[in-house]
Amino acid sequence: MPTVTIKPQDKVQEGAEGTTLREIITAAGIPLGACTCAKGYFDNCHVFVTEGKKSLSKATREENEHLDAIVGVGSKSRLICEAKLGPENVTVELLGALSG
Ligand code: FES
Repeated sequence: MPTVTIKPQDKVQEGAEGTTLREIITAAGIPLGACTCAKGYFDNCHVFVTEGKKSLSKATREENEHLDAIVGVGSKSRLICEAKLGPENVTVELLGALSG
């Protein structure tokens, strides 16, 4: 099963293909806080994927629109509620409030 390495906590969590990064990070015991997307804030789900990004599900148009609403987005940015694990291991860097 592929793994997700979560920084800066340095936790490693296995996950089945097709599972969202949010589910995997939650399974690792990292509190993510409530989703604020209904209020138009998507920052709670913004991470940088530093390894294995190509293995994740492709970003949908909706995800890209949500990313466009976030300050500090870069080429490694994904939303953990949208990105689904593929066959390869990935490393994500939690940002802002998520980084603990
Ligand atoms: S769950 Fe709301 S932006 Fe991800």
